[in-house]
Amino acid sequence: MQLNYPNKKTEKEIFDSIPDVELVQINSSDNPNLLIQANNLVALKQLITKHNLAGKIDLIYIDPPFATNNTFTITDGRASTISNSSNGTVAYTDTLKGFDFIEFIRERLVLLNMLLSEKGSIYLHIDYKIGHYVKIVMDEIFGIENFRNDITRIKCNPKNFARKGFGNMKDLILFYSKSDNLIWNEPKTPYTEEDKLKLFPKTEKDGRRYTTIPLHAPGETQNGKTSKAFKGILPPPGRHWRSDVTILEQWDKDGLIEWSDNGNPRKKIYLDEQEGKRMQDIWEFKDPQYPVYPTEKNPDLLDIVVKTSSNENSIVLDCFAGSGTTLKAAQTNGRHWIGIDQSDEAIKAITTKLDTVEGDLFVSKSDYKLLTEKKHSSQQRVYEMGAEVVNQRAELLTNSSGKLTVPASKSPTS
Ligand SMILES: C[S@@+](CC[C@H](N)C(=O)[O-])C[C@H]1O[C@@H](n2cnc3c(N)ncnc32)[C@H](O)[C@@H]1O
Repeated sequence: MQLNYPNKKTEKEIFDSIPDVELVQINSSDNPNLLIQANNLVALKQLITKHNLAGKIDLIYIDPPFATNNTFTITDGRASTISNSSNGTVAYTDTLKGFDFIEFIRERLVLLNMLLSEKGSIYLHIDYKIGHYVKIVMDEIFGIENFRNDITRIKCNPKNFARKGFGNMKDLILFYSKSDNLIWNEPKTPYTEEDKLKLFPKTEKDGRRYTTIPLHAPGETQNGKTSKAFKGILPPPGRHWRSDVTILEQWDKDGLIEWSDNGNPRKKIYLDEQEGKRMQDIWEFKDPQYPVYPTEKNPDLLDIVVKTSSNENSIVLDCFAGSGTTLKAAQTNGRHWIGIDQSDEAIKAITTKLDTVEGDLFVSKSDYKLLTEKKHSSQQRVYEMGAEVVNQRAELLTNSSGKLTVPASKSPTS
């Protein structure tokens, strides 16, 4: 399935049309973390051609503009007055619409796909008005078979709008992996007091809470260890024991099996042995009440994403970094990171936020190379073509399906 619209470029056209702008380091760090102030299309291309990072990024989270037709501003010193009003300093504008917006996102996604590692994942935060079109574009780029979740994120309390329609209190996060072999550190959420009573309704004499589950599961096994009689009972037709009969016998000796009045055995599951609940695809992470940056996201949301889909030493990338919520989550969880944003206000917010990471035994203080597009005397950022990069571009190949591939010398294994 594909979304077709006028002026949709091929992946090669996208790559070739991105100007090669020199990025210059303006601090003296030699840390591998990168904070880049630039148009993200330009910066992403440089990560591929100059930094040799194709196929090396384990986690991408992006929260791009949502085609809201707003200009987002910051009014100095009063975080609560951040709004889309015309007062204050402009943080960023969000004025692209329709297919122009879709192509803007698609261009970035094509490059992000090149950067993603084989065990990598991408999370894209978007709203309900445009998100379904973006889903089709992501299916096309990452493959519908790699679509993992459409996460509903509850972003605010219910509102009483006058307009006809249901109140909107959610947006969505589209989650794809590069392959089936993705990094996945199963996230668990703590049980609430209500969950504890509901999910573990029984108590032992000593007050220990537990529930019971059937000892058998669907599917029949022929002549296997899980199809034999346990205490003279066979698994019901069409089902098998969850474990070998010898294990069931051991559980029974250890008092881990509860027998009902009519002789039906069930396994006891204790609350104090569980890490928490499996996370589902509805997440409540409301936006901060006093944001330091417009549309700043909840840090706990990014913490979950980083912990679940990256490992220590993974590289985490956010190319719509805003106030650096993703970068801080990466830093505090011991990941390497790359942040890109073109806005002066965003870079200020990011550096301030990263400065709040206090180093300790387990978390190092933030350190990063700060790169920016080379400025010209007019102080305007302009695009520059470098002969070296033009040559590198010629090395990039398209495969038979028109997807961009990276030459061996730039591949992650080289
Ligand atoms: C919705 S905000 C991200 C907020 C962020 N998730 C946070 O928690 O603070 C989107 C950001 O994308 C940046 N942006 C938009 N278009 C860009 C582009 N072409 N290149 C670089 N940054 C861009 C804007 O400056 C803005 O800071």
